[in-house]
Amino acid sequence: MRVLLFGCGRVGRSFCELLSRKRNITASASISLVGVATRSRGCIYNPYGIDVDNLLKWEALTGRLDALLHEGGLILNDADEMLEDLDYDVLVECTPSDFELGEPARTIIKKALERGKHVVTANTGAMSLYYDELMEGSLQRGVSLLYEATVLSGTPLFSLVREGLPGCHVKRFEGILNGTCNYILSVMGMGSSFDEAMLEAQRRGLSEQNPWFDIDGLEAAAKTVIVAKSMMSLDIDIKQVSINGIRNVTMQNIEEAKRKGGKLKLVSRIEINSDGLDISVGPEILSLNHPLAYLEGFSIGALLLTDIIGEVCISGSSSGPKETAYSLLRDVLSIKRG
Ligand SMILES: NC(=O)c1ccc[n+]([C@@H]2O[C@H](COP(=O)([O-])OP(=O)(O)OC[C@H]3O[C@@H](n4cnc5c(N)ncnc54)[C@H](OP(=O)(O)O)[C@@H]3O)[C@@H](O)[C@H]2O)c1
Repeated sequence: MRVLLFGCGRVGRSFCELLSRKRNITASASISLVGVATRSRGCIYNPYGIDVDNLLKWEALTGRLDALLHEGGLILNDADEMLEDLDYDVLVECTPSDFELGEPARTIIKKALERGKHVVTANTGAMSLYYDELMEGSLQRGVSLLYEATVLSGTPLFSLVREGLPGCHVKRFEGILNGTCNYILSVMGMGSSFDEAMLEAQRRGLSEQNPWFDIDGLEAAAKTVIVAKSMMSLDIDIKQVSINGIRNVTMQNIEEAKRKGGKLKLVSRIEINSDGLDISVGPEILSLNHPLAYLEGFSIGALLLTDIIGEVCISGSSSGPKETAYSLLRDVLSIKRG
C-alpha cells in the first residue's frame, strides 16, 4: 500500500516518526511512504518508497523536505501534481483544519477520491463541514474515507463503534473532546486563574493554531458534528449546535461545581429526548460518579449509551500529534485489511 502524505507539520511529522518506529508492522503490511507534500517546504516522491529516517533527518537539519535527494526520487514544485498525476494507493491528509471553509483539505480529499484513491484524514474542519459530500464521493468511487484522527485523536471511537459494537444503536453521546479546554479547567480546579491556565496550556502546545477555536468551543463543536453524522446518522450542521466555550468561566464557577459535589467540564452532548434533538457543547457540572468527571489535564474521552449493552466509556490520556498520527496509521492498516 503506497502512501502519499499531504502535510508534514506536527501530525505529519509524527506520522513519519511512527512509520519509522513501527517499521516491523508497516513492512509486514507492505505499507510504504512514496510521497510527501507541504505548502512551502517542498514536495518529494519516490515510487519505490522514501527512506523515512533519512527524510526526518534532513527535515530536522534543513527544515525542508526536498533537501532529501535519493535515487529514483523526484523533487516536485507542485503538491497538486502529486495528487493528480502520480501513483499512490492512499492519501494521508494532514493539512491545517479550517473551520469556516474547510480548505485546502476539502479540495485535496475530493481530488484523491475522484482518482479512486483511499483517503485517511485528520482534518476536523473539512470533515465537519463536508462530511456528506466527501462520504458520498468515497461511496461513488468504491474507496474508503476514514477519519478516526478527527475526534479523540489516538483513542479509537469510530473504529470501536464500527468494529466493536456492530448492531448497537448509539442513543446518547457525551464527550470531552477538547484536551486544551479540559487542561485549562483542570488547572483552574487547582486554583489558577483562566489567564494563567491558558498560558500554561499554550506553553505545552495547543491542538489548533488559533487557540480561540478551542477556547470558544468551535473545535469541540466541529467534532460533535462528525460524531452526530457518523455514529448517529443525524442530518445536522454546525449552526444547529448550541456552542458555549470556556472563555467566560470564572473561579466562582469552578468553586460552585465543587460545592455541588462535581467538576466543571466542557461537555459535547448529543441526545434525542422527548423535546427533540439536544446537540450542544458547553461547560457542565459533572457529578463525581460520572465516568468523564475523572478526566484531568489533556485527557479526552466519551461515554456512549447504546441500546444493547448500555454504557460504554473510553478515554485517552492525551490528544497530541503522536496520538493523532497513530489513528492515521490505524486507518491505513484498516484499509489494508480491507
Ligand atoms: N496537532 C494536533 O495535536 C492535532 C490533533 C488532532 C487533529 N489535528 C488535525 O491534524 C491536521 C494537521 O495538524 P498539524 O498540527 O500537523 O498542522 P500543522 O503543524 O500546521 O501542519 C500542517 C501541514 O500542512 C501543510 N500544508 C498546508 N497547506 C497545504 C497544501 N495546500 N498542500 C500541501 N500541504 C499543505 C503545511 O505545509 P508547510 O509545512 O509548508 O506549512 C504543513 O506541513 C489538522 O487538520 C488538525 O486539525 C491535529
